[in-house]
Amino acid sequence: MSSSEDHCYRLLTDYANGFMVSQVLFAACELGVFDLLAEAPGPLAVAAVAAGVGASSHAMERLLDACVSLKLLEVEMRGGQAFYGNTEMSRVYLSRVSPTSQCSMLLYMARTTYHCWGHLAQAKGKNQYLRTFGVPAEERFTAIYRGERVQFISVLTAFDLSLFPLVCDLGGGAGALAKQCLCLYPGCHITVFDLPEVVRTAEEHLSLPEEEQIGFQEGDFFKDRLPEADLYILARILHDWADGKCSQLLERVYQSCKPGGGILVIESLLDEDRRGPLLTQLYSLNMLVQTEGQERTPSHYHELLSSAGFRDFQFKKTGVIYDAILARK
Ligand SMILES: C[S@@+](CC[C@H](N)C(=O)[O-])C[C@H]1O[C@@H](n2cnc3c(N)ncnc32)[C@H](O)[C@@H]1O
Repeated sequence: MSSSEDHCYRLLTDYANGFMVSQVLFAACELGVFDLLAEAPGPLAVAAVAAGVGASSHAMERLLDACVSLKLLEVEMRGGQAFYGNTEMSRVYLSRVSPTSQCSMLLYMARTTYHCWGHLAQAKGKNQYLRTFGVPAEERFTAIYRGERVQFISVLTAFDLSLFPLVCDLGGGAGALAKQCLCLYPGCHITVFDLPEVVRTAEEHLSLPEEEQIGFQEGDFFKDRLPEADLYILARILHDWADGKCSQLLERVYQSCKPGGGILVIESLLDEDRRGPLLTQLYSLNMLVQTEGQERTPSHYHELLSSAGFRDFQFKKTGVIYDAILARK
């Protein structure tokens, strides 16, 4: 085999086996391996981990060793025996006690997203698979709204939002973004607007922000009157919907927005030629298997926003997963 064939074959093997890496991560999260190690006074041997999470030692040893190779765990040898502990990555992102834990989101991906992707070849972008799997609202909810504190700072600082004292976070879930927005812009008041079942599930299952400047309002953004605001934030909302629904929603936002007010759209932006970034292309496929929406280019968003009446369109690529678009009424 020539070296270029060799390279191609390696790449192909990596692609084909990529799902196994995700499954190692998901299984270790699901079993609570990172939580056990976070609570243990020091590194643990295979038998202690297996007993602690109720799994067989035989299977656990392989899982732990794969986690070591993936840098999810570290291992030290003492007296010929392996002792496992969390790495920086698992301490920060994978143990539930960490404020930046991504565990709920990973479990959601393991239980729903992964299965939806199993139908990629048949996908038509009609939201069919999520419904088929009948994910309980509570599970979907805790997964999506917990532990995502990491990612909003760069989009919330992409533009100076201090110009907008009254903010409405449309489809704002449990208020994770609102909390960060208030930390960055302490003078603002934020109304988090979401479906009644989401607001109620949030109240029942999560600790909602207690700050006085954050309030919750139940409603359907396609039908109900939207809260008054200087700035409407739509974070990862438009990517859920086909263009027609996006236009309907943006027109409603435009009507409610005060003159001079703004709209901040937070999405992962595709390059204009749609050739990348790869992660955004994958997210767009994720929208295909789970929703009727898609990821879009800046000019596609420009078209949607200007047709709804917004002007002064600006966008900033943040260099991380999500980007920011600001437009004004
Ligand atoms: C993909 S999540 C994004 C959540 C949040 N903005 C974020 O970025 O973490 C979409 C949100 O839109 C809300 N949503 C969907 N349809 C809605 C509707 N018709 N009215 C109000 N909220 C809605 C969902 O309940 C969910 O909270």
